[in-house]
Amino acid sequence: MALSLSSGSLASRGAPAAALSPQTSRLRRHLVQLLAHLLVALVALVAIGGATRVMEAGLACPDWPLCYGSLLPAGRMTVQVFLEWFHRLDAFLVGIGLLVLALISLLKRASLPFWLPPLCCTAVLLVALQGALGALTVTQLLRFDIVTAHLGTALLLVALVSVMTRGLSIDAPRSDTATPWLGLAAAAVYLQCIGGGLMASQWATGRCLSLQQACLWLDLHRFGAVTSALLVLLVSALLLRSEATRPSGRVPLLLASLLLVGVQLGLGLLSLRLALAQPLVTVAHQLVAALLVAVLSAALPRPTGQQILLDASR
Ligand code: HEM
Repeated sequence: MALSLSSGSLASRGAPAAALSPQTSRLRRHLVQLLAHLLVALVALVAIGGATRVMEAGLACPDWPLCYGSLLPAGRMTVQVFLEWFHRLDAFLVGIGLLVLALISLLKRASLPFWLPPLCCTAVLLVALQGALGALTVTQLLRFDIVTAHLGTALLLVALVSVMTRGLSIDAPRSDTATPWLGLAAAAVYLQCIGGGLMASQWATGRCLSLQQACLWLDLHRFGAVTSALLVLLVSALLLRSEATRPSGRVPLLLASLLLVGVQLGLGLLSLRLALAQPLVTVAHQLVAALLVAVLSAALPRPTGQQILLDASR
């Protein structure tokens, strides 16, 4: 297998300029696969977390880290206990996966891009923080700020793993003039998610719809939805137009973000129209939010901004 760099510069500190050994390219491919699986598991984790909240299952396991003092509380299994237990299991597996990834990236750092080990270690720290927040969520009886911080850290992990997956892939976009705009759109969507989390964890929607209380949260969320959706639409549409003259390989991601933002607005409006009576719609709203964060983060440039071209004869 042959490799060349489009800029003629090193893609990673310690990697040979002209060629990567077959072992190194195999290692990279395996790491991309592991990262992609972790990304799917993380997005699923956010959706399961949403289902746990909607089904009011956040305290279904009253203790932590075990559930009813057991690894598998078979005798106590209800839908609620299953959701909370499965949420913890998925989180545990993601944590192990990220730890393994960080160890490999440290051991094999000479053949990997220099940014990978620090980002992997950051992910491990975030997952440890997430575990602590998960424990506090239970012990502090679903305090809204802790529940929201738990969602915020989960979405940061989604963004980070998405950036790493894409950055390690061969066709990752390089830094260009679009980068700050994409960053702004991703940040706006992230903030909108935090606002959604604050609203949901205080049960503000139901209180507004039935008692006309805490409606400010809903008004803020509507305003944020319009602003962030317009930003995503504008940035994606403009970048799609410029793809013809300056291709960056982002087309599928930009199209996906356009689609997801439309679906997200539809789901938000539908969940309001249904007065949150359909848990599946509310959970889908949280799932699409996580997907949007993942897609916009993947459209960001690789951390080094350098392009690796792998030969097709690999
Ligand atoms: C870019 C657009 C949007 C994003 C990224 C977004 C994201 C989110 C997130 C992450 C949550 C928290 C979910 C949870 O913790 O269960 C949420 C909640 C919510 N969102 Fe959105 N949202 C968007 C647009 C909208 C729109 C247009 C509406 C309708 C006007 C809407 C209505 C709601 C409602 C009613 C909740 C609370 C659900 C509950 O209390 O269980 N959202 N949103």
